[in-house]
Amino acid sequence: MRVLITGSSGQIGTNLALRLLAEGHTVFGVDRRVNPWTDRFPTLLQDLAAAHREFRSGIGGAPYPPCDVVVHLAANAKVHELVEHPHRALENINLTFNVLEYCRMNGLPIIFSSSREVYGDIHRYITEERNADFSFTESPYSASKISGEALIYSYARCYGLRYLIFRFSNVYGRYDNDIERMERVIPLFIRKIAGGEPVTVFGREKVLDFTYVDDCVEGIVRGLDRLMLGSVENRTINLAYGQGNSLVQMAELIGDALHVAPQIIVEPAKRPGE
Ligand SMILES: NC(=O)c1ccc[n+]([C@@H]2O[C@H](COP(=O)([O-])OP(=O)(O)OC[C@H]3O[C@@H](n4cnc5c(N)ncnc54)[C@H](O)[C@@H]3O)[C@@H](O)[C@H]2O)c1
Repeated sequence: MRVLITGSSGQIGTNLALRLLAEGHTVFGVDRRVNPWTDRFPTLLQDLAAAHREFRSGIGGAPYPPCDVVVHLAANAKVHELVEHPHRALENINLTFNVLEYCRMNGLPIIFSSSREVYGDIHRYITEERNADFSFTESPYSASKISGEALIYSYARCYGLRYLIFRFSNVYGRYDNDIERMERVIPLFIRKIAGGEPVTVFGREKVLDFTYVDDCVEGIVRGLDRLMLGSVENRTINLAYGQGNSLVQMAELIGDALHVAPQIIVEPAKRPGE
C-alpha cells in the first residue's frame, strides 16, 4: 500500500515508515523539518499548519503522489511547551483540519494519533471511559487532541471519512533521544543517570503507562491493515502497554540496567497541564 505519513521526521513517524518500507510498502513523508535519522523515504518539507487550498510540494510544485491512506502524526507534541506557547495547540488543530480536507478531497481514510491526555484531570483517577469528560481538559495540548478527534468524528458523519484513532501513551525507544529538540523523560533520565547526575521526579505517585515504540508501531500497522481491508474502521482505540510504572520505579529500572545507583530527587507534582 502507499502510505502518506505526516510528522514523518518524528519518533513514531520514522519508526513506522521504516517498518512499512521493510514490509514492501511505499512511504511518502511530510514534515516541516528534515528527517534527522534516515533518508530512506522521500520527505516533503511543508508546514502543514499553514493554509492549504491545494496540497502541492510548494508554490507551483508537483502535487502529492497518489496514496491509499494517510497516517497523521504531525503535531506539536510536548505538553508543557504548549502550556507556555498555547498558539502551538491551535497549530495542531489547523494542521489536522488541513490533513482532513486533503483526505476529504481525495477520498482517503486516515489514522490519527491522539493521546491518553484526552482523558483530562488525572486527580479524578479516571478508570472508566464513561467518567472521562472534556470539561476537565488539563492543557492546550489535550484540547488540541480532543479537537482533532471531534473534527474526525464530524468528517465521518458529514463526508463518510473512514478513520481509526489511536490514543498513545508515553511512547519510548528508538529515535527518541533528540532531547535538545524535545525533552522526553526516559532518554533524559538515561542520559543523566549514566552521567552520574541526579534526576528530579515531579510527583512520587505519578504513574505513567510507558509504551515501547515497536508495540506502538505494531498497533498502527495492524490498524492500517484492517482499515484497508475494511474489517475495522471508525473506532477509537487506546494503544498502550496496559500497566503503569511510577517515575521513581522507572528511574530505578534505568539505574539497574546501567549498574548505577540513581540519585532521585522527589518534588511535588506542580507543573500545570501535566
Ligand atoms: N510519543 C508519545 O509519547 C506520544 C503520546 C501520545 C500521543 N502522541 C502523538 O503521536 C504523534 C507523533 O508523536 P512523536 O512522539 O513521533 O512526536 P515528534 O515530535 O517526534 O514528531 C512529530 C513531528 O511532527 C512535525 N510537525 C509538527 N508540526 C508540524 C507542522 N505544522 N507541519 C509539518 N510537520 C509538523 C514535527 O516536526 C515532528 O517531526 C503526535 O501527534 C503526538 O502528539 C505521541
